[in-house]
Amino acid sequence: MAPATGILVAAAALGGCAFAQKYGENHVRVSFDSDLVEQSAFPAPNVTLFSPAFSPNASFVPGWFNGSDGATSQTALDSFAKAIASKNPSWATYRTAEFLSEEGRPFPYIYLSTSQNVTSSGKLRVWLQGSVHGNEPAGDEALLALLGALDADQEWAAGFLEALDIIVMPRYNPDGNDYFQRTFATNFDPNRDHTKLMRQQTRDIKELFSSFAPHIAVDLHEYGAASRFAVNYSNAADGMYSAAKNLNIHPSIRNLSEALFAPGINSSMISKGLRGEPYMTASSSSNPVQLDEAGTDAKIGRNAMGLTQCITFLTETRGIGIANQSFKRRTLAGFAMVLGVLETARDNKEEVYNTMEAAIKEFVESDEDIVVTDYTEYSDRTWTMVDRRSGEVVQLPVQFASTTPATANLTRSRPEGYIIPRAWSDLAERLRVSGLQVETLEDGFSGEVEVYNITSASLARSYYEGHVLNTVTVEALKREVDLPKGSFFVSTKQKNAGIAFVSLEPENIDSYVRFGIVPLEVGDLYPVFRKV
Ligand SMILES: *[C@@H]1O[C@H](CO)[C@@H](O)[C@H](O)[C@H]1NC(C)=O
Ligand SMILES: *[C@@H]1O[C@H](CO)[C@@H](O)[C@H](O)[C@H]1NC(C)=O
Ligand SMILES: *[C@@H]1O[C@H](CO)[C@@H](O)[C@H](O)[C@H]1NC(C)=O
Ligand SMILES: *[C@@H]1O[C@H](CO)[C@@H](O)[C@H](O)[C@H]1NC(C)=O
Ligand SMILES: *[C@@H]1O[C@H](CO)[C@@H](O)[C@H](O)[C@H]1NC(C)=O
Ligand SMILES: *[C@@H]1O[C@H](CO)[C@@H](O)[C@H](O)[C@H]1NC(C)=O
Ligand SMILES: *[C@@H]1O[C@H](CO)[C@@H](O)[C@H](O)[C@H]1NC(C)=O
Ligand SMILES: *[C@@H]1O[C@H](CO)[C@@H](O)[C@H](O)[C@H]1NC(C)=O
Ligand SMILES: *[C@@H]1O[C@H](CO)[C@@H](O)[C@H](O)[C@H]1NC(C)=O
Ligand SMILES: *[C@@H]1O[C@H](CO)[C@@H](O)[C@H](O)[C@H]1NC(C)=O
Repeated sequence: MAPATGILVAAAALGGCAFAQKYGENHVRVSFDSDLVEQSAFPAPNVTLFSPAFSPNASFVPGWFNGSDGATSQTALDSFAKAIASKNPSWATYRTAEFLSEEGRPFPYIYLSTSQNVTSSGKLRVWLQGSVHGNEPAGDEALLALLGALDADQEWAAGFLEALDIIVMPRYNPDGNDYFQRTFATNFDPNRDHTKLMRQQTRDIKELFSSFAPHIAVDLHEYGAASRFAVNYSNAADGMYSAAKNLNIHPSIRNLSEALFAPGINSSMISKGLRGEPYMTASSSSNPVQLDEAGTDAKIGRNAMGLTQCITFLTETRGIGIANQSFKRRTLAGFAMVLGVLETARDNKEEVYNTMEAAIKEFVESDEDIVVTDYTEYSDRTWTMVDRRSGEVVQLPVQFASTTPATANLTRSRPEGYIIPRAWSDLAERLRVSGLQVETLEDGFSGEVEVYNITSASLARSYYEGHVLNTVTVEALKREVDLPKGSFFVSTKQKNAGIAFVSLEPENIDSYVRFGIVPLEVGDLYPVFRKV
């Protein structure tokens, strides 16, 4: 993806509006869909959802109705999770993470498993997270609805848990939820922090994720309902979903995601009378409408998780900026997408397990080139839209930049490993937090390495997530280096090496150099070395 697109994606995710931030309570403007649009395109489904917001005695704070609060309070979420675990001790355990949010809130999560010993169970490990963005309430509600549905049908639950061990972290961003705002309390976007790891909260959750080392992950979000296309249309997808697209994820894992899991998600949506589409953001909403499929960038959760060679899906239900409107349908859509993933995993456990284990082994041993940048091109297709004049669901012609798959552009030989001088231990620490094994070189390092010379560098004109982005090009030189004791070696013969590629190759759009963590100008020699 071109560097500029990353910025557009971020702006589009906010509903296209950049606005001044304050400490807490950064709400987006509410713009309800008309009754006509809601009734003809998004009628309330006639289903039972077993989550707090849909319990017969549910109560809501007034802010829920005007977009200044969420549906289910942290207290209600916590007692619901505890109740599920105490009713089902043979398969559900309530846990609290050993860390707190920026404002000191806990992270309750549920571990669903019938095995006593995770590592020896031979099951697929599944990580489900919701509400990374605090104003996307159907994400966590859908995960609570999943817990409620498992509790309500024990036999069905047992069928899943014969194949799967599952961690459900319904609320990744409890502070954002409390303020009903997208970001952390510090106004950093949790979903752009996955390579720079600027916030401790990102690091803490990532360590928990890495220690679980899931085969499958799902990240539940909502998308902005206010976007208009070709003036009179809006997105009619109840759910958009996207697998991790980064090309350093093994092709068999990407293929499983696209050829097995994505159709499973689609079928699950259809079986509930809902409409699914791939996840996109708009780079132009008019004439011609241009839609970009989810990118390959590693700063975003789905690709960061995917780069641990994990089948990963982002799911997005229509919901930002419409307060309580259509909440049952939104929650059902999130629930349907997560079920599509779980059912596919359950029904194809052997194929998924064996394909992934073989792919991981092959990835670890590979000496194929690594992909530093990639691109996509537009082609014609149609998109499921609502004609806002009639409420009718139609197919609107659009141009679509598909990332299924993206095309590799800049590639480089895969080094045996990267050598990081002791002085740059903060880079080594970021990689360790991301689940990489980082070796400390007790005797330092002396020998020939590949060093990058910076041949061009271009700074952005404003902050992006607290950093001034630096776009560089490099050329590789051979040099002898002599590095002190306590320097680090990051072998690329490991499962999570893809994270090292995107973080350490300076020309990647989310690298430490791009984020200015290692500030470099033309003629500087990059102080992370490639052992080839
Ligand atoms: C909803 O579904 C139930 C059970 O399937 C049915 O009895 C009821 O009539 C339905 N309600 C509406 C409004 O369609
Ligand atoms: C709602 O009812 C359920 C049982 O039906 C109970 O566990 C829960 O505490 C109640 N919630 C509230 C907010 O009263
Ligand atoms: C939304 O409702 C809350 C609670 O009633 C109120 O404090 C707030 O001012 C309202 N906000 C808007 C934008 O109407
Ligand atoms: C789980 O099983 C593995 C392999 O058999 C064993 O090494 C480990 O000690 C067990 N862990 C627990 C907590 O029982
Ligand atoms: C949008 O709808 C209005 C009202 O029907 C119509 O006048 C206008 O031409 C439409 N705009 C486009 C771009 O189709
Ligand atoms: C991709 O996955 C599908 C579904 O599991 C499988 O049928 C197909 O053989 C796979 N293709 C490749 C090229 O691996
Ligand atoms: C979902 O399945 C339907 C029916 O097979 C198909 O028409 C549609 O293109 C699929 N959608 C996606 C996003 O795959
Ligand atoms: C949202 O709140 C409004 C105002 O209280 C209410 O009329 C409407 O039925 C609610 N919608 C849903 C889906 O709960
Ligand atoms: C491919 O990379 C080269 C060099 O980095 C760049 O100039 C070119 O624009 C890229 N091509 C595409 C299609 O992105
Ligand atoms: C690094 O690249 C710059 C810009 O092309 C060049 O001026 C400089 O001589 C190069 N340095 C080395 C050591 O090759």
